[in-house]
Amino acid sequence: MSDVYLNGKFVPLEQACVPVLDRGFIFGDGVYEVIPVYDHRPLALDRHLHRLENSLKGVRITPPLSLATWQSLVKELVEREPSAQQSVYIQVTRGVAPRDHTFPPHATPTVFAMAKPLSAPPPEWIREGISTITHADFRWLKCDLKTTALLANVLLRQMAVDAGAVECLLIRDGYLTEGAASNVLVVLEGQLLAPPRNHLLLPGITYELVLELAAKKGIPCQERPVTEAELRRADEVMMTSSTREIVPITRIDGIPVGSGRPGSVTLRLLDWYQEYKRS
Ligand code: PDD
Repeated sequence: MSDVYLNGKFVPLEQACVPVLDRGFIFGDGVYEVIPVYDHRPLALDRHLHRLENSLKGVRITPPLSLATWQSLVKELVEREPSAQQSVYIQVTRGVAPRDHTFPPHATPTVFAMAKPLSAPPPEWIREGISTITHADFRWLKCDLKTTALLANVLLRQMAVDAGAVECLLIRDGYLTEGAASNVLVVLEGQLLAPPRNHLLLPGITYELVLELAAKKGIPCQERPVTEAELRRADEVMMTSSTREIVPITRIDGIPVGSGRPGSVTLRLLDWYQEYKRS
């Protein structure tokens, strides 16, 4: 693996060490981003950096780098990593300080970033679709911030894997929010439905791109609350994320979605997404 970036320096991964009193370790007090890179070019970099700024603002960490410096850091990481397809991970924590919940007055944020090869989702996921489970969304009420405090997401995703599924679809008060590590969109009666961007879910960059592509290509779409009942009677369901792109969901809690096969809207969106990546 190519060298990683830690607090201003590129070092081999094994030598990248953070003090145990880093608030990222102690409290999960940090935010992160994941940026996909295709053919050595980051996809939608500005959107990812804008979301990073928003997450930092949301948790009241002063941005440690300027927009231009983030851009050149990502560029350098991408150049150092030989794979054409990569994902760039950026993490910022509130820094190192004696353990106390209150913000430390003088801590310097810790900045860590790395690039690693990104493989496409397994072909059978696209051919057959994936199985999912549902669970009550027991996360907090600031899910729009991409924070490293992901224990709830970790537990929910593991429940899916333990059940032989790939993703866990989250339901809060009778409405679909998102997946444990993805957004979820639904096709119902010819319309693409997307749960609204608010504090209950992460405004996914892939979700945004999918909605923009659908609108451009004339697929009727609506960003509005999706009930659990609508999710269960949907014709198509898909998950989206920067690392897994668009994946058809063909089973929810063991029950087939629609025909039980990947649907035509999902597959068309996936084609348009590939075109968009190349453009
Ligand atoms: N996660 N919702 C959650 C909770 C996520 O963790 C992710 C992505 C998404 C999709 O967002 P985007 O399209 O911007 O990747 C939605 C990343 C990939 C991760 O944690 O590794």
